Amino acid sequence: MSDTLEQESAYQVDALIAEDIDAYLELHQHKTLLRFITCGSVDDGKSTLIGRLLYDSKMIFEDQLAALEADSKRVGTQGQEIDFALLVDGLAAEREQGITIDVAYRFFSTEKRKFIVADTPGHEQYTRNMVTGASTADLAVILIDARKGVLTQTRRHSYLAHLIGIRNIVLAVNKMDLVGYDQAVFDTIVADYRAFADSIGIERFVPMPISGFKGDNITTLSPNTPWYSGPALMEHLETVELDQVSDQARPFRMPVQWVNRPNLDFRGFSGLIGSGTVKPGDAVRVLPSGKTSTVTRVVAFDGDLEQGVAGQSVTLTFADEIDCSRGDVIAAADAPPQAADQFEATIVWMADEEMLPGRPYWLKLGTQTVTANIQAPKYQVNVNTMEHLAAKTLELNAIGVANLSTDRNLVFEPYADNRGLGGFILIDKITNATVAAGMLHFSLRRAQNVHWQPTDMSREHHAAIKNQKPAVLWFTGLSGAGKSTIANIVEKKLARMNRHTFLLDGDNVRHGLNKDLGFTDADRVENIRRVGEVAKLMTDAGLIVITAFISPFRAERDMVRKMMAPGEFVEIHIDTSLADAEARDVKGLYAKARRGDLKNFTGIDSPYEPPEDPEIRIDTTNMTPEQAADLIIARLIP
Ligand code: ADX
Repeated sequence: MSDTLEQESAYQVDALIAEDIDAYLELHQHKTLLRFITCGSVDDGKSTLIGRLLYDSKMIFEDQLAALEADSKRVGTQGQEIDFALLVDGLAAEREQGITIDVAYRFFSTEKRKFIVADTPGHEQYTRNMVTGASTADLAVILIDARKGVLTQTRRHSYLAHLIGIRNIVLAVNKMDLVGYDQAVFDTIVADYRAFADSIGIERFVPMPISGFKGDNITTLSPNTPWYSGPALMEHLETVELDQVSDQARPFRMPVQWVNRPNLDFRGFSGLIGSGTVKPGDAVRVLPSGKTSTVTRVVAFDGDLEQGVAGQSVTLTFADEIDCSRGDVIAAADAPPQAADQFEATIVWMADEEMLPGRPYWLKLGTQTVTANIQAPKYQVNVNTMEHLAAKTLELNAIGVANLSTDRNLVFEPYADNRGLGGFILIDKITNATVAAGMLHFSLRRAQNVHWQPTDMSREHHAAIKNQKPAVLWFTGLSGAGKSTIANIVEKKLARMNRHTFLLDGDNVRHGLNKDLGFTDADRVENIRRVGEVAKLMTDAGLIVITAFISPFRAERDMVRKMMAPGEFVEIHIDTSLADAEARDVKGLYAKARRGDLKNFTGIDSPYEPPEDPEIRIDTTNMTPEQAADLIIARLIP
């Protein structure tokens, strides 16, 4: 996998942060680290609150402070107070538009702990940013404006934080100064929120009355809210139990990042301990192979450890020489995670292009990378009302539940139990962009109950009886390019040479097997996936399969190519220009499309991605179909 792919991973923010703040972390090495996320909009006073936390923890440097005071004067804030929002809204665009546009990570530290706060925007269209920011957080601060109470966006943020698996939620009822520090206002908001939290399964949250602007209940309890007994926000952030600590109590799991082999005497397996603890003498199992061994050493950066714990990066050595490589998971021998290749998952779509059910995407889960196909969603969730809606696909910022299958077994745990082994991202195979984040719910039983049935008549037997080598002659090109005509002649010529063939033609298959499919991108993907599966079965039966489909997308043609045995897939591009195909317009469809009476027509308002390196390319200018067919036969049977 390429480097870009690694960098694209939304879950790699850890590494990026680490680089940026190396020096910072060294300074505060002995302290524990809390990652948290603030959810709310500019109006809720989010930037002011973060600015206040930074200020009170003395993390603002002198020169920044001077600039801030000058800025505050210019913008003209009330009274003498510093406008902390100006400190945080550092991005130029934020200042200009008055909104926060991306995830910004900020670092600060107190005597007791160091913090990384992911500041994410509140608007609905930024769901993907919030999910990215939340993916590594231990805690979420849900900000509410005391004057407004629980809003749609409060529900959305809480749902997302819960979905991402954040177990610590702080309900910060802000701007208490503007409601006269009225306990009744606070109590009503907390009761409203509790009813909502119950309905979506949030079991506990810590409510606090605060004012980011005035500093009430931020570092110390405020005399303005004598009815509130604590804790103050900072105190809570400093003392709340980290996920790492609870992770240590669970069974041992470590995804292998690399095999460390500096010389012949040492072979170790390096990675970040995801959960549990490990020490020399522990029995471990390597998954998915299931091989077992005993740990001999646990080596960390500065030497051997008596015990490694969740959150630490270590290298393990084993008593036995067993196979173990990048992507494998080392686990407690008696409590291993499962491996499966079919799942139900929640998917958060993060790309501008909609999800295409059936298209192969890279799925990256921890250090494992496989190819995955997502089925059409079972439903989409309205993130404002939590209602389930019917959906055929998922668009940018949509969240849905779907089944997916992978080409190899994935070692996993349900996301609710283990974020590290249950959270994944999807990556577009062509652009290498991260298109989605997901959470595995469970594996589908049918994956375990359906086995490949070995048959005595092998595909080799079938081919031998027909005395031929099976193949797929995959014609691709625009509508009206001449695919069907040429494919038809090629089939007749092969038949005359006693070859056993079968022609699958787009228009014909769409009358039967695929009559439920139209011409949206998603339907075309499914069209080709099914045709690929049928062609594969036919090659197993020993046939030479000829297919004539526009098959406009590279991704699906490549997918079918990979389904076939090496050398069996022959891509034939019938390369007729759009102008020529349109001029011929045998079926009158181009004219219809130009008139606007036919939507999603290939070449007009739906794309065609020509093959980059087809086995055979036929330029049909100045060539009859008969000549084209001869040329193809000559290339196939030299
Ligand atoms: S594919 O894109 O999914 O591979 P396929 O080859 O099955 O398409 O079907 C293409 C045939 O369907 C065309 O030759 C044409 O006769 C017909 N057709 C009907 N509507 C469309 C459309 N919107 N775009 C392309 N072809 C269409």
